[in-house]
Amino acid sequence: MTPPEGPRLEDRFGFEVYPKRNVSIVNGRGALLWDAAGHEYIDCAAGVGVASVGHGNRAVADAIALQSRKLITCPGIFYNDIRGRLMAKLVSLSPRGLNRVFLCNSGTEAMEAALKFARLTTGKHGFVSAMRGFHGRTLGALSATFRLRDEFEPLVPGHRFVPFNNLKKMEEAVDRDTAAVILEIVQGEGGVRPAEVSYLKQVRRFCGDNGILLIIDEVQTGFARTGKMFACEHADVSPDMITLAKAIAGGVPMGAVLCADQIGPAAGKHGSTFGGNPLACAAALATIDYIEAHDLAGESRRKGRLFRDLLEQPRPAPVREIRQVGLMIGIELKSRAKPVIEALAEKGVLALPAGPTVVRLLPPLVITRKQIRKAARIIRETICESCPVGAGS
Ligand SMILES: Cc1ncc(COP(=O)(O)O)c(C=O)c1O
Repeated sequence: MTPPEGPRLEDRFGFEVYPKRNVSIVNGRGALLWDAAGHEYIDCAAGVGVASVGHGNRAVADAIALQSRKLITCPGIFYNDIRGRLMAKLVSLSPRGLNRVFLCNSGTEAMEAALKFARLTTGKHGFVSAMRGFHGRTLGALSATFRLRDEFEPLVPGHRFVPFNNLKKMEEAVDRDTAAVILEIVQGEGGVRPAEVSYLKQVRRFCGDNGILLIIDEVQTGFARTGKMFACEHADVSPDMITLAKAIAGGVPMGAVLCADQIGPAAGKHGSTFGGNPLACAAALATIDYIEAHDLAGESRRKGRLFRDLLEQPRPAPVREIRQVGLMIGIELKSRAKPVIEALAEKGVLALPAGPTVVRLLPPLVITRKQIRKAARIIRETICESCPVGAGS
């Protein structure tokens, strides 16, 4: 049988970087996706944590359509009404002290900007980040990322890695040239591993006492994914910069850095052609309004607990541990995750890996309780069927 057009053309003409799955998505609504043959999937990937307000969200689609007829592009050298409104909105939601916004187009770009702003602000060069942390794939952000680095050396010098949730090792790793510490609140790609609240508070104090900036990467955790608008609210910690992307604009590419007053000055020293374009800003405003109006942070907390309870009762034998913060769920298996993720797709549930043994679930926050019940049942069954005999002991 001839493969459908999308896969055929992508396989023929796409430059291969992604390990492709045998699923070709053409349509979506809420937490459901369909392929060209009409097969339905419950989406527990959400475009890797992007589609928090759901696929085909009417409010976001209308905002994009309206803005696209008005003005799509407007570089940062000119003022723009909708961009100003988005900046004010982001600041109004931010932890205290973060009063300025830099807009760009992706998570890795947000981290690049934060690294440059940290050097400009402190005049220092070094960075300390966590083992298993992930901050992006461009050379600067990759330098702060624990894995995927080897073939791209030499990277930006001055980056050191310390074990997550270990203050003593961080104290030992910093020196007089350390500009910033970079952390995720829940390590996403690293296996859905939450930071301890006490650790975050200690790191905040330690950085403040030693003139080191604290950069929190909320690219994956931001915008209600963990049950708060920003995950650092769980620890009541205000960083010096927060990097954002993924869910910020309902699927339209956008990244952002929220900056405390002491960051900079950086006038004339950084920028982006597409950063803060009115189309993405309109999508972001509609997305954030939707998140607030539908209490998606509360929904994320409640639905996350439901999902976890359904997966845990009783815990399937091949599962070592389930880690869950809001609708960010990591199912750590005693064997490899890949066969389970592939079998799940065949049964109509799309899930993600997070390291070799973790199945990660990042569904749209609008997923219904009925969809959660169905997905949880299929996931439990699939884990039991797909894990090798012995992995359950
Ligand atoms: C925590 C974190 N930071 C940064 C990034 C990079 O974002 P992007 O793929 O938009 O460059 C990701 C992407 O998965 C991420 O999870």
